Amino acid sequence: MAQKISALRQEIKRHNYNYYTLDAPTITDAEYDRQIKILRELEEKYPEYATPDSPSLSVGGPVLDNFNKVTHKLPMLSLGNVYSKEELVEFVERIQKQLKNPQPLLFCVEPKLDGLAISLLYEHGKLVQAATRGDGTIGEDVTYNVKTIKNIPHTLKGNSIPRRLEVRGEVVMPIAEFHAFNQHAIAQQEKTFVNPRNAAAGSLRQLDSNITAQRPLAFYSYGLGIIENGSLANSHYQRLQQLKAWGLPLTKEITLETGAQGCFEAYTRLLQKRPTLPYEIDGIVYKVDDITLQEQLGFIARSPRWATAHKFPAQEEQTRLLDVEFQVGRTGAITPVAILQPVFVGGVTVSRASLHNADEIKRLNIKIGDTVIIRRAADVIPQIIRALPSTSGEQSREIIFPTACPVCGSEIERIKDEAIARCTGGLYCAAQRKEAIKYFASRKAMNIDGLGEKIVEQLVDENLIHTPADLFHLTAEQLIPLERMAEKKANKLIAAISQCKSTTFPKFLLALGIREVGEATARNLANYFLTLEALQQASIEDLLKVDEIGDIVAQHIVTFFRQKHNQEVIQALLDTGIHWPEIKTKEHQAQPLEGKTFVLTGTLTQMSRNEAKQALQALGAKVSGSVSKNTSYVVAGEAAGSKLTKAQELGITILDETEMLSLLGSL
Ligand code: IVH
Repeated sequence: MAQKISALRQEIKRHNYNYYTLDAPTITDAEYDRQIKILRELEEKYPEYATPDSPSLSVGGPVLDNFNKVTHKLPMLSLGNVYSKEELVEFVERIQKQLKNPQPLLFCVEPKLDGLAISLLYEHGKLVQAATRGDGTIGEDVTYNVKTIKNIPHTLKGNSIPRRLEVRGEVVMPIAEFHAFNQHAIAQQEKTFVNPRNAAAGSLRQLDSNITAQRPLAFYSYGLGIIENGSLANSHYQRLQQLKAWGLPLTKEITLETGAQGCFEAYTRLLQKRPTLPYEIDGIVYKVDDITLQEQLGFIARSPRWATAHKFPAQEEQTRLLDVEFQVGRTGAITPVAILQPVFVGGVTVSRASLHNADEIKRLNIKIGDTVIIRRAADVIPQIIRALPSTSGEQSREIIFPTACPVCGSEIERIKDEAIARCTGGLYCAAQRKEAIKYFASRKAMNIDGLGEKIVEQLVDENLIHTPADLFHLTAEQLIPLERMAEKKANKLIAAISQCKSTTFPKFLLALGIREVGEATARNLANYFLTLEALQQASIEDLLKVDEIGDIVAQHIVTFFRQKHNQEVIQALLDTGIHWPEIKTKEHQAQPLEGKTFVLTGTLTQMSRNEAKQALQALGAKVSGSVSKNTSYVVAGEAAGSKLTKAQELGITILDETEMLSLLGSL
């Protein structure tokens, strides 16, 4: 056991060094937290092996020699954590018990910024020193660098400024700036940062402050250190407001809350707001507001008893890449898909993630068996953001991009300068056939209710259908033997297939699945050519006259209609009786949602926000980010927040996701 504990300590120390000294962590925060937790548990269980230099007791890593050292007169502390409402309630109860105070307590609640802690020392209102936290007692003098941060005042303004005042807070790189910085670095073939926090840390700990000056950093205050010759309010919240009055920046999200319930409500609100904040946060901090009570409560080890952090679900986690599958899409595009050891990240379990294309695999430099970092921010599809260098010594295996289609065996081609590789099998390839039929039946195309993906796959696998036209010749008897299909469902599906024959010209065009022809293009084509015959005969020159159609799309359209197979399928579809109302005039066709403004809020479950936005725009609607009296509809998904409240206040019509879908389907 002694050996196990010692090995774990060594490992954590190595991670501390990578993280604090090199600014280059090789594991996720969540994994680091887990290792610390295991170490603490072991040390508690086997107190005989406890050592004073254990990393479970210290706050940060060692200090580099290159910067001058600064001793913090008042140590810069760390925060304990809670991970659930129950633990938050326990935290509050513990405090009340210690204070022997059953009254509801007031807490100052702040975002937990994910950056780098910094101490700013002001003497007579002038910034004289700035230091990193270092190990909590000794930090590094980064005064020159900090003076380059634009929102840090060099001189405080206003009255009653203490003669010496130490302000503590976090230096961050705002998310938008972080992305812009990395993009620029990629273009210049320079080193990129793995996340905003490392970007902030790496930028601040530059020996040349000219480099720091070029980095878009920002500072937010969250507390005070030494205060000499000055008196301040007895409330933490009031003190922060005082800092603001002296010109120091605060985040906008600081509130006062009562008791565990108030704190928890603030947690829920902030979690919802997280994707819209300009900086990264990894939780929320609750602090007893009354300074006298804070002093009574005191500290335990390196953390105050009067404050704790409530962590948000991690947005990044590490897991193993078990395998890579190659999926064939509707247009033959081959997409490598990572098969992962299931991992809980950003609130869901992720077991697959797209690797996009061969270039992405090369960029990530990843192999099967590697440990990878998965990121899933709210509402965003999970992504592999990087692979970690293998430490286990286990064998990893090269990802080999296939040269033949994994479904039909046809050759795979990759056109020069295009990232995408494609199966050349066309509709000979069962995978492409399946996708083409799914697309044909989808809501925005022929809208065949009840023809889900699994049914299409079975129909193709059983050789019951080869083209979309075959759908119209299916009988209930053929459907009944399929999995999870009963007579009633089969009859309903046959009726839905028959019903879809009455459609519109743009929807039919979209359903054909011509490459690069989405809803807006299909509508433009229909309005310009009016009839299918006219479109089928159009030349590239004719097509280029249509709104928003360029060379590539025009070429795809001509190629599509020239292919004999496609002509046969179109004829077969028309023979089944598919029809649409004639489009009468070449004049501008009023779009059904023209003049209407939509706002999307909350999480949609059946489509992404972007898909919803495109579908609405294709019908002429405007989609805006904020609710005003000019908003026509607010579409409220799950856990919709302030925009929904505002819409209710303004009396704006609110649609849920299903209502929006039926509106889209009816137009
Ligand atoms: S208070 C005595 N407030 O979290 C309390 N810390 O785990 C000391 N942090 O080193 C910290 N946002 O770098 C506090 N609003 C906030 C914070 C915050 C981020 C960081 C800070 C600290 C670490 C503690």
